[in-house]
Amino acid sequence: MKIPILIINMKVYPEVLGRRALELAKVTEAVSRELGMSIAVAPPTTELRLVAENVEIPVYAQGADPVEPGARTGHVPLEFIKETGASGVILNHSENRLLLNDLGWLVNRAKNLGLETLVCAPDPYTSAAAAALEPTAVAVEPPELIGTGKAVSREKPDVIVKTVELVKRVNPSIPVITGAGIESYEDVKRAVELGTQGVLVASAIVKARDWRQKIMELAKALH
Ligand code: G3P
Repeated sequence: MKIPILIINMKVYPEVLGRRALELAKVTEAVSRELGMSIAVAPPTTELRLVAENVEIPVYAQGADPVEPGARTGHVPLEFIKETGASGVILNHSENRLLLNDLGWLVNRAKNLGLETLVCAPDPYTSAAAAALEPTAVAVEPPELIGTGKAVSREKPDVIVKTVELVKRVNPSIPVITGAGIESYEDVKRAVELGTQGVLVASAIVKARDWRQKIMELAKALH
């Protein structure tokens, strides 16, 4: 993971249904090239291979199931993610939580497969616990601010400061990223001032009328 980073979680918003996910990834790639900075996308699972095969920016899966390949139905094992060409996986998002032992299993297995892991956590102490699993990065996202347009960096700066402090204590080499409600250049700037090394953004970009303009605005704050 190249730091600082902007990660766009497309979720499964109707705005990225089908090939629109690839369109958003292409716009993201163009901005990434123009600014010469690292921007990653996490498309819906059904579009993972299409996106991974058609852009050169990092592509992350939105989640994975703690299962080995085999007689499973409707699950997404890490091996199948790796095979799409994706470079990483978001784990334990507030909208797709995992048990601690399953999270530990997934982080370890992803590492062995050469997949990066961005582990989400809702608060500073859970972030510190996540850091102990040695993922590629930890993302702190207060769930009550997700999708609200009320940025974590404005509404709960103490959460960011405390997370950075605790994660540093556990393992200073693990970058802390933040997300939830981030909408503007100022929101991102503030997150960086508070000690984060990137942001995870969904609705402000996916639902923007002009994808390019919004990605550019947020990315410039990390540039
Ligand atoms: O994964 C990022 C996400 O949970 C934040 O969502 O819509 O508040 O940017 P949003």
